[in-house]
Amino acid sequence: MNILYIGGGFVGACSAAVSADSGHQTLVYDLDERKVQLLSANDRDTVESCLFEEGLGDLLIRNRERIIFTTDYARVAAFLDTADAVFLCVPTPEIGATGESDLRYYFAAAEKLAETLAKRNAGRQDKYVVIVNKSTVPIELVDQTESIMRERGVENFGVVSNPEFLVEGKAIEGSIRPDRVVVGASREKDFAIMRQVYRRFYDATGISYLEVTPTEAAAGKLLANFCLFNRLAVSFDVVGRTCESFSDIRYEQIRKILTTDPRIGSWGFYNSLYAGGSCFGKDARSLAHQLRTAGENGVLVDETYLANQRQLERFLGRAEKDAAFSWTDKTVALLGLAFKQDTNDVRNSPATPIVNFLREQRVRQIRAYDPTAMENFKGEFPPAENMVYGTDEWQTMAGSDVIIIATDWPQLRGLADTLPERLPGRPLIMDGRRLWHHRYADLQAAGFSIIAVGSPFLRKV
Ligand SMILES: NC(=O)c1ccc[n+]([C@@H]2O[C@H](COP(=O)([O-])OP(=O)(O)OC[C@H]3O[C@@H](n4cnc5c(N)ncnc54)[C@H](O)[C@@H]3O)[C@@H](O)[C@H]2O)c1
Repeated sequence: MNILYIGGGFVGACSAAVSADSGHQTLVYDLDERKVQLLSANDRDTVESCLFEEGLGDLLIRNRERIIFTTDYARVAAFLDTADAVFLCVPTPEIGATGESDLRYYFAAAEKLAETLAKRNAGRQDKYVVIVNKSTVPIELVDQTESIMRERGVENFGVVSNPEFLVEGKAIEGSIRPDRVVVGASREKDFAIMRQVYRRFYDATGISYLEVTPTEAAAGKLLANFCLFNRLAVSFDVVGRTCESFSDIRYEQIRKILTTDPRIGSWGFYNSLYAGGSCFGKDARSLAHQLRTAGENGVLVDETYLANQRQLERFLGRAEKDAAFSWTDKTVALLGLAFKQDTNDVRNSPATPIVNFLREQRVRQIRAYDPTAMENFKGEFPPAENMVYGTDEWQTMAGSDVIIIATDWPQLRGLADTLPERLPGRPLIMDGRRLWHHRYADLQAAGFSIIAVGSPFLRKV
């Protein structure tokens, strides 16, 4: 089949790579020249310096005969003569306070596509094409997509909703072996085309291939993200808070008590200073906005969002409240800038509000370190006298007054073992991921005070 992807970011590039790997001729169009250049490089490190997703580079190289990235719309127009499916994978951020989705990227892409589709096959439009919403979109957007096409004279097409459930950091693995593929369509013809697109998954063992209505598909995506986000809010704001508020409770022991009940399940029972990334927060706000627009109140959805915001504010506030720590003129080591491990994505990473908070507190210097995300973070916070980027974890922590762990990079875990020998200054430890929990008692005994999510204040002994 011939498949076009519009938008070559995390979702577009990873899905397109899997599409090429499934034997389809794949064209990816993106506005971003640099991204297109890096993704076309035919070199694993260059590809992954752009989108740090394990396996993406190898998959693109292996399938280079079948996948092309371009910024040239003339190429798109020519491809549309024979395209079977067009996947829209553009960003759908939120507008602001209301949570309403900002659909300007989506509409720009859809309108341009419509104008071009109407001219395909020299205007005859004899090639049937499905337009697939892979972006996370409002529940009823499919109707608008259809109107955009019709208003611009597009004929012989279908609109399908096929939300993406990939997990950043495991996007390739998740796209090659998804737990489910959800296809929302109104016509058998469209389902049939999508079955061909996904023939490697249809009927595959261990993959649920679900055919539903377009609105069920779009709603299912938002609700799935809400369920996950809500689990995190429960884990941080109820379980974690209980562990912080009473003595002699270890978060890890409570986790065992809870997760050994199969009705409760195990996903999401970890503690963190914040659930970041580009999806959970904005999708929850979009869902709440749509519920309110439909005359409902969306209170639980709003509260889940607020619990996550509170978590970070509360964590940062504990330095002053619990440890009587004044930030002014202090040197802060910030370990972890990516919103989570195994990605270089800094969108809605806790590191951003942390740096803003530290600046408001007039710290002397922030020393930041991350194994993959420093280049992306420098785009937001360029290096300066009071904002420096470390060469490794130890160099970043040396001489600091406080260490903040913000990302759950596995490589940070072992540092706790030699901290007492290597950091004679005994900085305050703020463990926003409980990465050093196995050493809290030893560190206290060695003269460190610790603020950790999911623990009461652990004062040096
Ligand atoms: N990142 C995730 O983990 C994830 C998971 C599931 C769903 N989603 C959803 O998928 C969508 C895309 O997310 P993403 O993370 O891939 O975003 P992204 O920002 O990584 O990529 C989007 C790409 O679209 C390009 N773009 C914007 N407007 C364009 C246009 N008019 N024409 C062509 N290209 C255009 C941008 O240059 C960018 O490269 C969003 O709706 C998001 O909510 C994301």
